[in-house]
Amino acid sequence: MIYVTRTLTDTAMALVHSLGRPVVCGEEDPPDRATLLRLVAGAEGVVCTLTERIDAEFLDAAGPSLRVVANTAVGYDNIDVAAATERGIQITNTPGVLDGATADLTMALILAAARRVLDGDRLLRERTPWIWGPRMLLGLDLSAGASLGVVGYGRIGRAVARRARAFDMEILATPTSSPLSEDDRRGVEFVELPELLERADVVSLHCPLTPATRHLIDADAMGRMKRTAILVNTARGGIVDEEALVKALRAGTIAGAALDVFEGEPAVNPALVELGNTVLTPHIGSAGTATRERMCHLSVSNVAAVLDGREPLTPVNLHPGATADG
Ligand code: GLV
Repeated sequence: MIYVTRTLTDTAMALVHSLGRPVVCGEEDPPDRATLLRLVAGAEGVVCTLTERIDAEFLDAAGPSLRVVANTAVGYDNIDVAAATERGIQITNTPGVLDGATADLTMALILAAARRVLDGDRLLRERTPWIWGPRMLLGLDLSAGASLGVVGYGRIGRAVARRARAFDMEILATPTSSPLSEDDRRGVEFVELPELLERADVVSLHCPLTPATRHLIDADAMGRMKRTAILVNTARGGIVDEEALVKALRAGTIAGAALDVFEGEPAVNPALVELGNTVLTPHIGSAGTATRERMCHLSVSNVAAVLDGREPLTPVNLHPGATADG
């Protein structure tokens, strides 16, 4: 049996049903925990999303039949990979198919925050009387030498940098051990995080959420940033200490924040909503129609591969069975 925790795109659902195994499928909304644990019992493969916590309890609720859990997301901080590996269960994710969409949304947030798009929109919707003025709604000129600091120069960070270069921004990035093409290096100055925070006009986060990056951007980090700087997060909410961010935004320690992800998702700190210097979107980084098709298709293909005894396309843990079998 394949358990799909939430309804995927139509073509991905058709693919699951074509695999010749019984399918149990959840609704469009996430299942509550009790339902999740009940429906996974006896599954050989699971297709899940980032809203499900895949931990030892979940894996044990599935029972010994479970061979693969495919996360329909590139980030997999919702999954206890060590617990899966111990049990010989393959974990997969969806890298590479959502870089462009996430980078596009990042640019949208950068532009919206820098050029005060929401302030302008609010002004008109509130029917505030206005007339063009030399000092009206002034924002940050990206193309007048503004610098972008990319924290995490992986696939998504590099896609953001490519877009930002087209806006004539200067690019700073944290060092990476990933092999980089000449194009990816072009015009990029690699500097350690403290220096990047001190120099960048826009700081954009593109690292995964791990124990090492939790609250990487805390009060101290924000204290290093320019008072005119904008913080952008399309990665994971937990990378930023949100309480500290609220204080920094209130105190004018930094000028603004544009956030697609939040620490307590789907809850959003009410202070972030009330503040005028934030741009907020509900975790839609990869929400392009074609991108979601690719993500869902890749997830299902990973389950199909493992259940057929083939190598998964995009594994997170390598050969987990080897550990379980000794
Ligand atoms: C979305 O947030 C993802 O990790 O793919």
